[in-house]
Amino acid sequence: MTQYIFPQDFLWGAATASYQIEGAVFEDGRGTTVWDVFADTPGKVKNGDSGEVACDHYHRYPQDVALMKQLGLHAYRFSIAWARILPEGTGNINPAGLDFYDKLLDTLLVNGIRPFATLYHWDLPQALEDKGGWTNKMIVDWFGEYVHIVTKRLGDRLKDWMTLNEPWVFTYLGYASGDHAPGHRDLNMYIRASHHSIMAHARAVNIVHANVADSQVGIVLNPAWSDPHSDTLQDYLASQRLLSFQNRWWLHPLYHGEYPADMMAIYGDKMAFLQADDFDELKANPSDFLGVNFYTRHVVQAMPYSDEWLKFITVRQNREHTEMDWEVSPEAIYNVLKHIHDEYAPSKIYITENGAAFNDVVTGDSVHDERRVAFYQQYLAHCHRAIADGIPLKGYFAWSLLDNFEWAEGYSKRFGIIYVDYPTQRRIIKDSGKWYAQTIRDNGFVLP
Ligand code: FCB
Repeated sequence: MTQYIFPQDFLWGAATASYQIEGAVFEDGRGTTVWDVFADTPGKVKNGDSGEVACDHYHRYPQDVALMKQLGLHAYRFSIAWARILPEGTGNINPAGLDFYDKLLDTLLVNGIRPFATLYHWDLPQALEDKGGWTNKMIVDWFGEYVHIVTKRLGDRLKDWMTLNEPWVFTYLGYASGDHAPGHRDLNMYIRASHHSIMAHARAVNIVHANVADSQVGIVLNPAWSDPHSDTLQDYLASQRLLSFQNRWWLHPLYHGEYPADMMAIYGDKMAFLQADDFDELKANPSDFLGVNFYTRHVVQAMPYSDEWLKFITVRQNREHTEMDWEVSPEAIYNVLKHIHDEYAPSKIYITENGAAFNDVVTGDSVHDERRVAFYQQYLAHCHRAIADGIPLKGYFAWSLLDNFEWAEGYSKRFGIIYVDYPTQRRIIKDSGKWYAQTIRDNGFVLP
């Protein structure tokens, strides 16, 4: 038997995001977002699903907070929908939108749950996308205007803020691969969008610190872990290329104030738009913590003569995979934390998302999701190892509190520790949710 007991002040939480759970997309003055438009476009989201109803959390939040309390969560990470606050992205403020998050916040606080708010989890107001979205440098000011309004209203009670969720995903999948909203396929658009996202993050840190006393603010990244396919130098370099493309591209400016030289060399004259003072605000406004979302690793093989632009492919291994076809790679969560710690040493790290989609079956009032329980046990065991090695991991948020709208996969993938029966909106705490509640009570768990 091995015991995994966590530090006394370790924070146990669960996470969600506005478009994935709220529904009520036409209610109380909310503006249209890029995800409403994308989901409405035939062929973009599996089964033609959209976030129109989702978990109906907009109406059912009191019940959902009661479930959080029942699980014993210390903290809840949710996101604020920009288009509820500013339906056109800038300009007219929609008071009903602010009221919703105000009520959610108070409900969390009376239940003793610490709120962590993500300011942007991908639901860009469509009005801003019509002006170029993240490819337009004006987004730094637009985002700042929104962050100012939200922090002024909620900052007296809300102290923990996250600026952007996974900028690599919403800029790369949104502007280069086209798999996510707004669905562009242009590497140059991606590079600009990614650059503006880092600048927008800096603006938000600046505003949160100015508007919120005793605040803690950070960004949420989705750093990859990659293992080389063989022990050749080429495969090693290819695995490092993936880390530079997806991790160092964000971490280097955050912690060193400039882009990594290897990616600058790859992008070459595509970076000609960079201005000398672009990182001034970033350098002047360091973050208080780093949020890490982590699910799986990649095994990378160099393809020097292929037309893959980064000259590698990823090779699927014969190991357990989840419903997303993501390999279960618990040791990789340790590896990615160690890589970040060794290269950038953030003073405080949270795992802001980790979890798994499996095909859940309801039996009576239960969902016996033992594979998800095993997933959490293994990944958390490696988080424990990271802490034992001196990595300042301060908390962990399960993805997700509820089954929800999984972006391009629609409702076909269930990540919740609470099951949602969409036709009736009934919630059932899965066995993984019960296991998580017990783990929180014991501040750890035992494995054979
Ligand atoms: C992450 C997203 C989150 C969820 C999980 C499965 O990339 O941040 O919204 O979809 O993946």
